[in-house]
Amino acid sequence: MALSLGLIGQPIGHSLSPWIHNQFMEKLGIDGEYRLHETDLEHLAAQVELLKNEQVDGFNVTVPYKQAIIPFLDELDLDAKKIGAVNTVVCENGKWKGYNTDGYGFVRSLKSSFPDVSGKDKKVLVLGAGGAARGIYRALMNESLERVDIANRTSAKAELLLDLKEPAIATDILTFGEAEQQLFKYDVIIQTTSVGMKPNIEAQVIALTNLQAHTVVSDIVYQPLMTKLLQEAKQQGASIHFGHAMLLYQAQLAFEIWTDKKAPLDTILFQLEQRLRGN
Ligand code: ATR
Repeated sequence: MALSLGLIGQPIGHSLSPWIHNQFMEKLGIDGEYRLHETDLEHLAAQVELLKNEQVDGFNVTVPYKQAIIPFLDELDLDAKKIGAVNTVVCENGKWKGYNTDGYGFVRSLKSSFPDVSGKDKKVLVLGAGGAARGIYRALMNESLERVDIANRTSAKAELLLDLKEPAIATDILTFGEAEQQLFKYDVIIQTTSVGMKPNIEAQVIALTNLQAHTVVSDIVYQPLMTKLLQEAKQQGASIHFGHAMLLYQAQLAFEIWTDKKAPLDTILFQLEQRLRGN
């Protein structure tokens, strides 16, 4: 039977997910479809019910329903429960189960480009403490790292991430000013705020004056791909990691949850890059 997948969110007209999952199906020789279900909050319950009745194999959930979807599910993966947000739903043994592949997708994409980022002596700085940072921080807690510090404009929001912390990894909550001063000590810096996103492409969340060349700087913003922050990091000789990789790897993990098959990403990553650059 053909694979039946989809996406719930609002707005989703410009989502790249149908293109990505169609590429996966094509590469793996799987017959199926990935449909968009744009829904307002009032109709969310009915839309979920419809998908369940249609017995779809699974679906993604995006903004603004990653939390609102939870009451409609039978089970939650442990990390999705801790994170408090779901982006992937699958029917397992007749039960609808929610996962969160965003943070794990990010970490997989980072390690695929920079295999050495994990290690007991490695220090990571996360900029931002919103939904995206929450998933990434949780996924980082499953790595072998010395510390994962968090810098956010609102420190009370950064403190909320501490409920995801594992004892073996240290975390300090920093102001952006403190982070700027200590930047030299990090092996990886992960920018998770919306600062620098189109149309405000000249914005940069922190200055990189104290950046070292051995550091990997990652920005989850992918419109534009080359943010102001990444431009400056590159000028300083640091390695950079683009945001579209996270988009693709969270989709790869979701597809694995639905089908147990791992889609090859090499040519898709390149094609996605071309699309985002407008070629
Ligand atoms: P997402 O799900 O994309 O992470 P979010 O949950 O709304 O979105 O989180 C947005 C993040 O970007 C937060 O860390 C937010 O900082 P605050 O917690 O202080 O609000 C950060 N952010 C958004 N605009 C910002 C700006 N202009 N300067 C600094 N941080 C900003």
